[in-house]
Amino acid sequence: MQKTILVLGGTGMLGVPVARRLKADGFEVRILARDPAKAQALLGDDFAICEGDVTDCASLELASEGCHGVHVSVGGDSEYRAAENVSNQAPRLGIKHITYVSGSTVREQNDWYPMVHQKLMAESAIQESGVPYTIFCPTWPMEQLPRFVRDGRAMLIGDLPAPYHWFAADDFAAMVSNAFQREAARNKRLYVHGPEAITVKSALERYCQTLHPEIKGVSAMPLFLARLMAAVTGNQMLKFAAGLMDYFRKVGEPGDPTEANELLGAPTTTLDAWIAQRRKAMA
Ligand SMILES: NC(=O)c1ccc[n+]([C@@H]2O[C@H](COP(=O)([O-])OP(=O)(O)OC[C@H]3O[C@@H](n4cnc5c(N)ncnc54)[C@H](OP(=O)(O)O)[C@@H]3O)[C@@H](O)[C@H]2O)c1
Repeated sequence: MQKTILVLGGTGMLGVPVARRLKADGFEVRILARDPAKAQALLGDDFAICEGDVTDCASLELASEGCHGVHVSVGGDSEYRAAENVSNQAPRLGIKHITYVSGSTVREQNDWYPMVHQKLMAESAIQESGVPYTIFCPTWPMEQLPRFVRDGRAMLIGDLPAPYHWFAADDFAAMVSNAFQREAARNKRLYVHGPEAITVKSALERYCQTLHPEIKGVSAMPLFLARLMAAVTGNQMLKFAAGLMDYFRKVGEPGDPTEANELLGAPTTTLDAWIAQRRKAMA
């Protein structure tokens, strides 16, 4: 019988490729979605879409019933609640495996940053549930690059000099699917790094050269200016983005992906290959 995996955050940037990969690998896939019509339009008819919210235990329990596994890929303020609710319900519902998308910089010394604090609590809830788990700590996905392009400009906030091992979301999705299929991935916390280390500026320049040739260069708004503009205009998104970039500048890219690569297969897509795939998809 096919095993069923419930994906929380299955309409998100990292959740969509995971849902598709699980389906392609022979799992039945359920999506818990706040907006089922949006989920259906995004994913098509091959997925069982359950209307619900991760903060609503009743809808989560209904969607989880009969599932072999739950994949938690929830962004924003509800992330900890998602992990906590899944962890509380999973033993009773007979869930056999929980996978969770944490982050490469999530570690005790970075607990001062609210996102990390929330993720550390989420990790603890899952680890203490007694249900086998795989916690993924991914660095930057290549799919982030388009988010730096807006209104005909490619713009960074602050200076991020450290190179990152960018990974393609499809490679990550394959690792998540493998985690559900390999006993050895149980009760592991695994770092996900792509094959090449590239600075954000250089990655964005290469992305724009092929996919936005009209953009002539990548500009960087100094951090102090971003903060000043956010304060003057009350722009909360800019305030958050400036804080996030400052955080990443301070913490770099920790973690060793060796164990993840051995257990689940290393991400192999290079930035050039990913850009070429994206160009083909857009043609
Ligand atoms: N993107 C990155 O660079 C990156 C890197 C490392 C780790 N991560 C982690 O990976 C996870 C997923 O990231 P992402 O970039 O895929 O995020 P995303 O694109 O913002 O997607 C977030 C998902 O969470 C869902 N969600 C949020 N609150 C919910 C709620 N109350 N009930 C049900 N669903 C809810 C959203 O559903 P709606 O469609 O209804 O909004 C969406 O499907 C996050 O934990 C993030 O921190 C991301």
